[in-house]
Amino acid sequence: MTTKAQPLTYQQILTHTDLELQRLTEQARFFGDLTAHLFQMAGLAPGMRVLDIGCGTGDVSFLAAQFVGPTGQVIGVDRSPQAVAVATQRAATAGLANVQFITADLAELVLDEPVDALIGRLILMYFADPAVLLRRLCRFLRPDGLVVFHELDLTAAKAWPPCELFATSISRISQTFTRAGADVRTGLKLAQIYTEAGLPQPEMWQSARLGHGADSPVYSQVTQLTHTLLPLMERVGVATAVDVQIETLADRLRQEAVANSATLVAPPFTGAWAHFSS
Ligand SMILES: C[S@@+](CC[C@H](N)C(=O)[O-])C[C@H]1O[C@@H](n2cnc3c(N)ncnc32)[C@H](O)[C@@H]1O
Repeated sequence: MTTKAQPLTYQQILTHTDLELQRLTEQARFFGDLTAHLFQMAGLAPGMRVLDIGCGTGDVSFLAAQFVGPTGQVIGVDRSPQAVAVATQRAATAGLANVQFITADLAELVLDEPVDALIGRLILMYFADPAVLLRRLCRFLRPDGLVVFHELDLTAAKAWPPCELFATSISRISQTFTRAGADVRTGLKLAQIYTEAGLPQPEMWQSARLGHGADSPVYSQVTQLTHTLLPLMERVGVATAVDVQIETLADRLRQEAVANSATLVAPPFTGAWAHFSS
């Protein structure tokens, strides 16, 4: 009898070292405007009570807090105590009284009161059956509550004119996630996930950050993600540290793009939103 290999958990793919916690915050800065635009289109509004699942170091919760304002409330949930500690400290430093963070596994989460919106970014990709998770979490929504998710299509990153090192770097990241059991095309599966979870057909929007020239942050984004993934990349046989040469990767990506006068398309995000009627 053959048994299907279990996907690795997020913590096994990207362990919460200081490097990874720092990377999450920088990545959030890079993608933040795309998520803010999604929340605006989806109708996140003042006074709402929001649940942010897989909140990491809190950036999506902080963004949501701006939309719901002082009369609303955001609850961020993550199973990493280190991430929750950083998020809680950041909320205290910013004086945000309407955001709170709790450590819990989403499979076991229990809430006392319903929420008006369920949101998340870069979280469904880590679940073998995201529709099952979504169906479970929709129980916490009040009738007609809002469901908003933002997920990547890693394979759609591209450069024009073509840049070989950029393509290789994205491919290594993508293969590593895939071999670890994460789904790098979750953005394009959101409609399917929503309907399987019992939600109506969502509205969707795709957007991407573009990079050009020597100062683009795309080089450091690709390098930081490669860096935190490198031990796993080696373990699953995608590339070795010698292949990757992490110390010089950002500079080589920059030199290649500048030499080709290339425009780089960072992996696009798909945002999906729908109202839940139980
Ligand atoms: C890529 S990070 C995204 C963080 C944040 N949403 C953002 O976009 O900045 C994914 C987060 O989901 C959390 N996570 C993964 N599986 C989880 C689970 N089963 N229960 C709770 N949190 C989980 C991880 O600990 C990690 O912090």
